[in-house]
Amino acid sequence: MSSFNCVPLIPMEMRTEFPLNEYNTFKVEAAAARYVRFDSDDEIVDFLGRNALAGHRHLVLGAGSNLLFVDDFDGIVLHPLLKGIHVVEEDRRHIWVRAMAGENWDDLVAFAVTNGWGGIENLSLIPGSVGASAVQNIGAYGTEVKDVIDRVEAISIASHKKVTLLPEACGFGYRASHFKDRWAGAFIITAVVFKLNRKPDFFLDYPGVKAAVEDLGSIDLQTIRRAIISIRQDKLPDPARIGNAGSFFKNPVIDGKTLDRLCQRFPDLPHYPLGGDQFKLAAGWMIERCGWKGKCVGRAAVHDQQALVLVNLGGATGREILELSERVSRVVLERFGIELEREVLVVSL
Ligand code: EPU
Repeated sequence: MSSFNCVPLIPMEMRTEFPLNEYNTFKVEAAAARYVRFDSDDEIVDFLGRNALAGHRHLVLGAGSNLLFVDDFDGIVLHPLLKGIHVVEEDRRHIWVRAMAGENWDDLVAFAVTNGWGGIENLSLIPGSVGASAVQNIGAYGTEVKDVIDRVEAISIASHKKVTLLPEACGFGYRASHFKDRWAGAFIITAVVFKLNRKPDFFLDYPGVKAAVEDLGSIDLQTIRRAIISIRQDKLPDPARIGNAGSFFKNPVIDGKTLDRLCQRFPDLPHYPLGGDQFKLAAGWMIERCGWKGKCVGRAAVHDQQALVLVNLGGATGREILELSERVSRVVLERFGIELEREVLVVSL
């Protein structure tokens, strides 16, 4: 028998009553009854093989940038912190980059832009991890990550087996994927392979982007990244300074008949055709129209630059932020007859 077969697996450490304050960008106080971090996929397989989840709820944590803890979490938090970014394949036009789930999303964007590989530059500065980018199908300034995902590598919680999921199976849509609905809790994403372009097509059609890039001189990946970062920094609060989770709500998608009815009452209602009979509305505009931009309830507030973002002014509880969000939803429903859907995942008992 070769000697490496004799090396015992080091059991991952299961922590109890683990504080999550630094693991959610809303910076609310919460704790997990149990917490395990993983640094490799073998650790995950080993952990699942020991049936350690039996009888417990679980939550897979990324960078905590799309979560609101309303209570302590009474189950097991699984935290894949797998690291590494490697080129796994290339041809004349494309380059396939495999990034491990625990990598910081924006570090991957910076790496791609520095190397001259296009496809994710419009997604610069989005907080979060690479694993969560696929769960959430992150999007910004006219592009979505699904368009460059070649495959998602994951471990099935039921079978403890490694699986590879192709994008057409993942149910990607606007801030949606099967990882959020029919597969919720079924997989731990370990890596995502992105197919990037050596000769990028730039997407500059989102209002304000082209002008911001041109102000920086030539149009290239670096200037696009710098322009996007500056647009985001102007509008969106920095989670390192003020607790928030980006857009709290999704922009509602409605049909043409509903749109016509609304436009009669609100002729300046911003709306964007999605194809077919579908139109996207700007939830931030509606919240602002209801007079809620910049309003606080206790220590939770609607951001004063971007009404779609709720912020923790310091010391807010998850429940306070949830209550604020419910009041915002209520006023939008009363005024526009539109029900806002949360983008943020609320974790409660
Ligand atoms: N608007 C207002 N008032 C506001 C906010 C927005 O009138 O307080 C209007 C704007 O003037 C504009 C429209 O609403 O006419 C759209 O605003 P913006 O371009 O800021 O984008 P958004 O629809 O509010 C979405 C994403 C953001 C993404 C931006 C840019 C969702 C839920 N949010 O916001 O994503 O950065 O577009 O692409 O789709 C996130 O998901 O966390 C996020 C920040």
